[in-house]
Amino acid sequence: MKCVWFLCCFLCFGVVLSRSEDGFEDLKARESLLSYLEHDAVAEPAPQPVMIGLTLIQGADSKGAVCLDGTLPGYHLDPGSGSGANSWLIHLEGGGWCNTIRNCVFRKTTRRGSSKFMEKQLPFTGILSNKAEENPDFYNWNRVKLRYCDGASFSGDSQNESAQLNFRGQRIWLAAIEELMAKGMQNAEQALLSGCSAGGLASILHCDEFRDLVPQTTKVKCLSDAGMFIDAVDVSGGRTLRNMFAGVVSVQELQKDLSSTCTSQLDPTSCFFPQNLVANIKTPLFLLNAAYDVWQLQSSLAPSSADPLGQWKDCKADNAHCDSSQIQFLQDFRNEMLNTIKVFSESDLNGLFINSCFAHCQSERQDTWFANDSPVIGNKSIAKSVGDWYFDRVAVKTIDCPYPCDNTCHNLVAHTDDVISTITISQSTRLTFSLLSLLSAFLMSLTFSNALYEVSVLVTHTIVSLSLH
Ligand SMILES: *[C@@H]1O[C@H](CO)[C@@H](O)[C@H](O)[C@H]1NC(C)=O
Ligand SMILES: *[C@@H]1O[C@H](CO)[C@@H](O)[C@H](O)[C@H]1NC(C)=O
Repeated sequence: MKCVWFLCCFLCFGVVLSRSEDGFEDLKARESLLSYLEHDAVAEPAPQPVMIGLTLIQGADSKGAVCLDGTLPGYHLDPGSGSGANSWLIHLEGGGWCNTIRNCVFRKTTRRGSSKFMEKQLPFTGILSNKAEENPDFYNWNRVKLRYCDGASFSGDSQNESAQLNFRGQRIWLAAIEELMAKGMQNAEQALLSGCSAGGLASILHCDEFRDLVPQTTKVKCLSDAGMFIDAVDVSGGRTLRNMFAGVVSVQELQKDLSSTCTSQLDPTSCFFPQNLVANIKTPLFLLNAAYDVWQLQSSLAPSSADPLGQWKDCKADNAHCDSSQIQFLQDFRNEMLNTIKVFSESDLNGLFINSCFAHCQSERQDTWFANDSPVIGNKSIAKSVGDWYFDRVAVKTIDCPYPCDNTCHNLVAHTDDVISTITISQSTRLTFSLLSLLSAFLMSLTFSNALYEVSVLVTHTIVSLSLH
């Protein structure tokens, strides 16, 4: 009995240690960092944003269009009115990706993998706002936010039965479009497919398909916000994002779902990178991106795994704390981003707004989309730029001068620090637990006295229940 207990202790130790690689605490911390970057980091929320309810797509399950956990997918729709009654904005929600069976399973317990956990109402701000003074060109359109719960930018179509995972992003996308067509989009005169982050990538992946799904007479364009994920070398010389995308592609078997124009020439992982897709998209496309995209800085260029000594920690949390060699690294990244969109930007149909800010997702936040002090290039805001391009008022291909020339940026700093320290705390807490459980196992192996045995049972119990929390 004691021997069994002793073994258990060591087993726990192993489990606790192995969790530090990809632990649930880390996943939770990463999840909240992502939320912060994509949505919660609103400096001054607009006064009383309109709240729009969640609609689940009834019957989607009969078409196999379900979230990771098998629940129904959903969207939020604010109907258009007046001159916007026959115009449709479809905005695809973002939220990273899952790249292992393990973190896809974790995702089922969040709003990004299950409609059970989705907010029943969301505020519509920025490009989704219903107020002309906040959203001059699209405020009275039918505005839809399609929720993201498939883990692969709405592009997978497979499943893993043993892990009970549904990878049905492509079916969710089709089921949503079908339902919205029935709700009036079949009569659309104008339509814009947009999305931010993983949703910005999705709007690139689905742009031409969207063009073909709506009537030929509809004017269709696409907008990708913070979707230009670059296949870049990280600060340790590795390729963090490529490795992550390779995981997404293999877990969801995306090779068969990606653009065949691309996969006939490049490996499937490359075909999940927008830089290998944008030049071949036929539908007019607008790329809105911060040149120093904060998500890419934190998760692709300088994640802790590529920066074990933490030399990038301060720079990641606040661009004012980057030293000159770090800034140089970021300037090289900016140049790489500009190079990848060169051919794309030669087309008269396409639009561009690459500002030299430390931001991520600038179309959904009121303060960056359209406000008195929102970011501008040459006096023109993001909302005005996207509107001018959509309505063909004037061509927009705006590239900012390199950092630090732009003093209109809304750089994401402050709270990011808290989230990063949450990750650090959770790691050190885990280490403490591991050491404690090793200690108690060690004590047991030293003395097989009954009293100590009872005590270590108690201690180990506590440790296990705490670390599983
Ligand atoms: C399905 O999930 C199991 C774990 O539950 C894993 O071992 C297996 O490799 C996965 N299958 C595929 C095709 O990824
Ligand atoms: C921007 O606007 C201000 C005042 O509205 C004006 O003084 C300035 O010249 C403008 N700058 C550019 C580049 O148009």
